[in-house]
Amino acid sequence: MSVLNNQVLDPWSTRTAQIKEIVREIDGVATYELGFQDQSEGLEFTFHPGQFNMLYVPGVGEAAISISSDPNRRSTLSHTVRVAGNVTGQLARMEVGATIGLRGPFGTGWPIEECRGGEVIIVTGGIGLAPLRPVIYELIARQREFGQVTLLYGARSPSGLLYTQEFDAWREAGINIQTTVDRASSDWSGNVGVVTQLFDRMKLEAPSQAAVLTCGPEVMMWFAARSARAQNIPIDRIWISLERNMNCAIGLCGHCQFGSTFVCKDGPVVRYDKVAPLLKVEGL
Ligand SMILES: Cc1cc2nc3c(=O)[nH]c(=O)nc-3n(C[C@H](O)[C@H](O)[C@H](O)COP(=O)(O)OP(=O)(O)OC[C@H]3O[C@@H](n4cnc5c(N)ncnc54)[C@H](O)[C@@H]3O)c2cc1C
Ligand code: FES
Repeated sequence: MSVLNNQVLDPWSTRTAQIKEIVREIDGVATYELGFQDQSEGLEFTFHPGQFNMLYVPGVGEAAISISSDPNRRSTLSHTVRVAGNVTGQLARMEVGATIGLRGPFGTGWPIEECRGGEVIIVTGGIGLAPLRPVIYELIARQREFGQVTLLYGARSPSGLLYTQEFDAWREAGINIQTTVDRASSDWSGNVGVVTQLFDRMKLEAPSQAAVLTCGPEVMMWFAARSARAQNIPIDRIWISLERNMNCAIGLCGHCQFGSTFVCKDGPVVRYDKVAPLLKVEGL
């Protein structure tokens, strides 16, 4: 299968990938490092941060899973998966060496080029950091092109924070990381409260040039956008990643439709002003 501009030329064709490594991240969440059985496919596979693959577990089905690895490290292709149902549950029972199918990459990526020159604020919660980890790698690799990069990251409890073993390296690379939890444990001395409170405390130098990238529950993204607007960040400089049931992943079946937006091909990453009226946030 060939890939052109990070879109697959034959979106139905499934490649065989082998599980090379499994990193148990937190309870119910693991990162699967995959290698293509045909090694030349690995060399030609490229993706934009924010894109996803359809992972196929033989005899069970497919699930849309974001790519969570470094786009510049072609030797590694990772997906961080939370057990939700059939496919992800079966994946959790698989061992290193097992094979699965993979179609992709699909969808839109985060707007890295549009972030150039200004501050970048990444607002996320729980497993929402997975599709943003490739952005962090990319922003670190091209550090001089961006202003201060801030990661605001929340989880229900300290044990729900992903990739904490990488935080020191990210901080050393200049990323301002601030974490918060809904419920502290006895050994937690950090922030307690919702992640958008961290945003509200920020002092931005040039809000009109800042960009906000957010992924998580829709209510969190809605509040993140509200905080961004309160900080005078223009509405067209806020991007969110949508999640809907996927089937074909190429805009044919309508499973993922969100208003006139097909999340699989017009998203998952969309500019906030294009979908804001459609976001239904209960109680607001
Ligand atoms: C663009 C995109 C990127 C994504 N990236 C990631 C990622 O990086 N990591 C990740 O872990 N997930 C990700 N997801 C979410 C993932 O695709 C879903 O969780 C997917 O449904 C898991 O498939 P499954 O077969 O394991 O679960 P399913 O069997 O589809 O179950 C999912 C949920 O639906 C419920 N459910 C299932 N069947 C029924 C039914 N008949 N009636 C009522 N409820 C039912 C289950 O209880 C469960 O809560 C992403 C989704 C999208 C759209
Ligand atoms: S998943 Fe079929 S149209 Fe989007």
